[in-house]
Amino acid sequence: MEFTIKTGAPEKLKTGYLVVGAFAGGTLTDAAAALDKAAKGKLAALIARGDLDEKAGSLLALHELPGCAAERVLVVSLGKQEELGDRAWRDAVGAVAKALAASPSHDAAVCLADVALPGRDAEWALQQLARTLADGTYRYDTTKSKKKDDKPRGARKVVLATRNKISAAMEAAVKRGQAIAEGMALAKDLGNLPGNYCTPTHLAETAVELGKQFKLKVEVLEREDMEKLGMGSLLSVARGSHQPPKFIVLHYKGGKAKDKPVVLVGKGITFDTGGISLKPGAEMDEMKFDMCGAASVLGTFKALARMALPINVVGIVPTTENMPGGGATKPGDVVTSMSGQTIEILNTDAEGRLILCDALTYAERFKPACVVDIATLTGACVVALGKIPSGLLANDDELARELTDCGTVSGDRVWQLPLWDEYQELLKSNFADMANIGGRYGGTITAACFLARFTKAYKWAHLDIAGTAWLSGDAKGATGRPVPLLAEFLIARSQGAGA
Ligand code: BES
Ligand code: MN
Ligand code: ZN
Repeated sequence: MEFTIKTGAPEKLKTGYLVVGAFAGGTLTDAAAALDKAAKGKLAALIARGDLDEKAGSLLALHELPGCAAERVLVVSLGKQEELGDRAWRDAVGAVAKALAASPSHDAAVCLADVALPGRDAEWALQQLARTLADGTYRYDTTKSKKKDDKPRGARKVVLATRNKISAAMEAAVKRGQAIAEGMALAKDLGNLPGNYCTPTHLAETAVELGKQFKLKVEVLEREDMEKLGMGSLLSVARGSHQPPKFIVLHYKGGKAKDKPVVLVGKGITFDTGGISLKPGAEMDEMKFDMCGAASVLGTFKALARMALPINVVGIVPTTENMPGGGATKPGDVVTSMSGQTIEILNTDAEGRLILCDALTYAERFKPACVVDIATLTGACVVALGKIPSGLLANDDELARELTDCGTVSGDRVWQLPLWDEYQELLKSNFADMANIGGRYGGTITAACFLARFTKAYKWAHLDIAGTAWLSGDAKGATGRPVPLLAEFLIARSQGAGA
């Protein structure tokens, strides 16, 4: 999708699809009021008749509105004016994104940037608009014989209309929104790609490609390299698989040489069968999404490189399949992690923490400003929080607050759970320094407690995205989350936050 910001009267915009907002009860936004005036009150009359539902995101499509240069007008409900906030605004913009993606016309103009939201400015609105509208065009077709280009529907050129003077900051906001949507699309593509396509090798090749495209240094460590580094925990997960494991490291250097990097670590289990502690069959196909943490790191790198942020970032992706097999790790096996700590593997299905712990130890060498890991780590997180926020656990309150705020700003929200020491007892083992599971209760917390034993050298936050990285049922597919959150976090950091 191509965006331009334009100042001008909405009724004069020559376009296939003109989008304006209206509130429940019939109050028009400035743009809608201008149209209504040109149409001699027709728009207000239709709304007063009840043609537009009050619920934010409801749509009313009109053809050939008198006095209006656009072929079609789409009115979107913003809900009750006194209740206007992020929620209603996102519902409205989300509905517009869907409508534009299915539109018969290839060009559109959206007059929503001036809708004044409490606590939000024009740049925020433009960034969210560009991101949401561009993201709405996403289609998965890699493993379909008919490609999306076969059905050329949807708006491609979109004008974001405003009555305000256009500033460089506004242009930059649109570019950011677009870059984030592009990063989300990469994360979605990788997540949606089946396990027989999206192997550890494929993730490594994708990272190398990104490196070529944006001139980033990318290293791919092989099994032998991991053996030399003593990554016994990560390698224990790879034992049952015929696919070679990879350890991917990406370097983005937009900051000063001496600036400490933010390190992002993404869980890259390209398929999680559970291993010898085999998962039940129902919905097991969804375990192809168990690399969405890795995908979010690669997607965020794409967005980051497009935005050219002045910051240093290292991305680490430990990746392997988790398979049963004659060589696979067995329950009760004890392995030695890169940190030297030993782990009794009581359940081979708790494999995410086993690959992350070695990656988190590896991260120490970069003397990070902070480390954020992203992982589809526990089913317990979906039980606790559902599919709305990602779980957040951290050894630093400041960092947790920063991420929480970026979640609210981006709409890609997180909710913090406690990482208290009392929970550590649950990981006790009679045969090793720790067990890899903590029993029936507090599964998201005990998983994070396990990771916390490997992150003492730096400020660290853990995002459990088991509930947020993909949707099930009819809408089955990757969401691209938490790329918006991570991108927002890096934007804030590049502007001096967290220093
Ligand atoms: N990848 C899963 C977590 C998961 C499960 C995410 C279902 C989304 C939906 C992870 O590797 C796993 O299997 N975790 C176990 C941990 C348990 C064995 C302590 C889980 O959550 O059941
Ligand atoms: Mn598992
Ligand atoms: Zn897993």
